[in-house]
Amino acid sequence: MAIKKEMLEDLERRRQLIAGDQSKIEARHAKGLMTARERIQGLVDSGSFQESGAHVGHDVRGFGFEKKVLPGDGVVTGLGLVDGRPVSVISQDFMVSGGSLGSRHARKMAETMQQAIELGNPIISMNDSGGARIQEGVRSLAGYGQVFRSNVLASGVVPQIALIAGPCAGGAAYSPALMDFCIQVKKQSNMFICGPEVIKAATGQEAPLDQFATAEAHASVSGNVHFVAENDQDALNIIKRLLSFLPSNNMQDPPHQFSEKLSLELDYGMNEIVPEEPKTPLDAYQVIERLVDSGEWFEVKRDFARNMITGFARIDGMVAGILANQPKVKAGCIDIDASDKAAEFINFCNAFNIPIVTLMDVPGFMPGLAQERGGIIRHGAKVLYAYANCTVPLVTVIMRKAYGGAYIAMGSKDLCADVVYAWPTAEIAVMGAEGAAKIIYKKELANAADPQAKFRELAEDYRQKFSNPYQAAESDIITDVISPAETRYKVALSLRSLLTKRVARPSKKNGLSPL
Ligand code: HXC
Repeated sequence: MAIKKEMLEDLERRRQLIAGDQSKIEARHAKGLMTARERIQGLVDSGSFQESGAHVGHDVRGFGFEKKVLPGDGVVTGLGLVDGRPVSVISQDFMVSGGSLGSRHARKMAETMQQAIELGNPIISMNDSGGARIQEGVRSLAGYGQVFRSNVLASGVVPQIALIAGPCAGGAAYSPALMDFCIQVKKQSNMFICGPEVIKAATGQEAPLDQFATAEAHASVSGNVHFVAENDQDALNIIKRLLSFLPSNNMQDPPHQFSEKLSLELDYGMNEIVPEEPKTPLDAYQVIERLVDSGEWFEVKRDFARNMITGFARIDGMVAGILANQPKVKAGCIDIDASDKAAEFINFCNAFNIPIVTLMDVPGFMPGLAQERGGIIRHGAKVLYAYANCTVPLVTVIMRKAYGGAYIAMGSKDLCADVVYAWPTAEIAVMGAEGAAKIIYKKELANAADPQAKFRELAEDYRQKFSNPYQAAESDIITDVISPAETRYKVALSLRSLLTKRVARPSKKNGLSPL
């Protein structure tokens, strides 16, 4: 008594067909590309992948497709473990009809995402597709509707990570856009709504792909992608590193790695990196480097709006999202792009229980006609909304400038923060001393015998009175004034004590964040 040998041979034959044509696999390798299955194997722990829907076939009527076999309908889906933690995986197979999305392909994607919501698994979706399967017409468009809807249902429930590993054209780009993080691979991929031919036909403009569709263009200009990868393997490493900072779903805490006891040492080096001269910009990266645990800094959207730094870190083992103004770029002003970048990051951290540490050194919102016409009011309001909407622990360190509306926006105590520390170099004021002196002493300056000397004197007087943290401390709008050397342990101590924070807000259908 044993199963018939032919049945096992038939299963093996079918499996080989599903695994893909060897010549096509070699052609991909020759181009330095991984296959859809290799991407999954490279991501998940060895032997942990449980595929579902491998035997699904296509549903194309006509076009000679009756005789065609499209293994898995062009997409590999299933469950796996990454560093021992479950994930739900989708990987489009370009070797099968260009990874084009037919109705069954879409159904597999949507089912995988809906199961991820039920299981509380992060979703990793690897995109490599010619888009809607042209031969399936409107049914493939309907399939995209199911995919987008699943992305939206998963939003804020489980982290969603998109890899752009090949073409990602037309409406297909909206699934990655609805996800939380996009990683795009250099050279081999592009992402756009309208390609060069369509742009040329509609507008007459020459629009080479490298100006708008590549990883570099999206990372630095459009802001659509969060990470640029050198190749497939690099992209998989980025996904794993990102997952190492995230909880699997919104019911969990992020993977803190508590140390047995807090290290409460002072870091005198932090005092050294603060320039003596207020006009010399501080490099926010140097502060971050000293604040976070060694090797535990993972920057997000590094090349976009570099005046605002965002990233994940561990501080004394606790996962935190860090936002920092970067005075070395645009003087650290908050402009439209920096607003969008900050608000997106804050919203993600809040959705997934990740405490936020804000490092403030901000002279204001960016002045300029283009900014006003471009809607800095609307975009800046996103930052206000995102911070004030937070229920996660919020710790803010005011390092130097904290002027006007930008001070309020960047995690001030009255807007949102639980704890606000200020360095003695903090200048918490409505505006800088020079600007203030010009306005409030207009008449005195006009009548002065030596207006320049009078201006310097009045500006210095204003600076002495207001450009320091003590007015704010006296008014109880900051928690404490600390030396830079105390920053790491004070922040770590605050995070530890805030981890039990629970906030109940009135229920509502949805808030209305400015868009
Ligand atoms: C059906 C497709 C396909 C598609 C590619 N293929 N895209 N089949 N529908 N959308 C098939 C090809 O026929 C070919 O099949 C195989 O995939 C590989 O394609 P090639 O063209 O040989 O490969 P390559 O030269 O690398 O070019 C890749 C490509 C190109 C840039 C993606 O195929 C292309 O431009 N495809 C069309 C892209 C597009 O316009 N898609 C529709 C977007 S609109 P064989 O059998 O020869 O191997 C859209 C709407 C979504 O997606 C809306 C959502 C709301």
